Amino acid sequence: MTSISQTPSPASAQERINHALEEIALSFPEAVRPIAVHALTCGGKRLRPLLTVLFAEALGNTNPDIVMAACALELFHTATLLHDDVMDNAALRRGVPTAHTLFGIPAAILAGDALLAAGTRLVAEQNNPRLSLIASSAIFETTAGAIMEMSLQGEIAGNSDAYLKVITGKTAWMIRSACAMGAALANVSEEKISYAAEYGINLGIAFQLVDDALDFAPSSMTGKPEGGDLREGKFTPPIQMYYEALSEAEREKFHTQFAFRSFSDEDIQSITAAIRTQGYGERTRRIADSYLEKADSCLRQIDLPQSYTEIFQGLISKVRNRNH
Ligand code: IPE
Ligand code: IPE
Ligand code: MG
Ligand code: MG
Repeated sequence: MTSISQTPSPASAQERINHALEEIALSFPEAVRPIAVHALTCGGKRLRPLLTVLFAEALGNTNPDIVMAACALELFHTATLLHDDVMDNAALRRGVPTAHTLFGIPAAILAGDALLAAGTRLVAEQNNPRLSLIASSAIFETTAGAIMEMSLQGEIAGNSDAYLKVITGKTAWMIRSACAMGAALANVSEEKISYAAEYGINLGIAFQLVDDALDFAPSSMTGKPEGGDLREGKFTPPIQMYYEALSEAEREKFHTQFAFRSFSDEDIQSITAAIRTQGYGERTRRIADSYLEKADSCLRQIDLPQSYTEIFQGLISKVRNRNH
């Protein structure tokens, strides 16, 4: 067994995760397999399972089996992406065509359900009800956040509490659960699990803020459509900043187009260009910074070996500076 005081390696954890995910994808029933292989083996940063493995190892569980439980988080995440791309009508993810454009909408939705089921099974195999509770709340909160976001679509919301609630649910909760699951796999105290969870929720909120900044970055960089949030009527911080700088008359026109999702390609291009020149993406990243600082202070409460504290701080920097 490797001692946790030896130099930990996120790259090796990532390799083990990728290997396990390939195996999992190939083990799906024939009807689902091509979609599972497409969704699970065409890239992805693997942030969530990596957090699970690293927290479990940092807190003392170095059993290789934890990789399987960690993969459950990637299965849940991938399921939400399959569903999200249908809801967002998105043609591109990770630089390749989305599953629903290749296999059809019903098949992509049902494959998402199969991934949720497969993830739940991996968690159940750990025989630990605490883990099952963490997993079910991850799925539940993600879904609730996504539904809340849909209910606000096309609205110019002056209310940033609603935005925070949406991103906490749809994105941060899964990242929170990844951290909490890692800590729970190491069987540590509730207090330590809560600090790991708090690190995760703050990292996750920042992660989505940066994602909303990146929505206006070139598609060649992100592998996702440019300006998708504008087309889909999501009132994210860069869009809010753009809107607030408009004159009364311009706001009225914008409001109508936003509400009816009727921006032309040229509109999207010119708004994207304005958002870039005005530096609204950067300003959004500065909002993310305040959550990353909170993540850092939660981390300090957990009392991890220094090498792991540095890895988790490295992840904070990665989220801050990420460009895909
Ligand atoms: C995309 O998540 C969906 C969001 C929560 C913003 P990631 O950016 O982690 O997607 P992959 O898995 O690395 O492609
Ligand atoms: C993340 O929001 C939604 C999920 C939690 C799946 P986005 O809709 O912004 O994610 P991307 O930009 O499509 O990856
Ligand atoms: Mg989307
Ligand atoms: Mg996005």
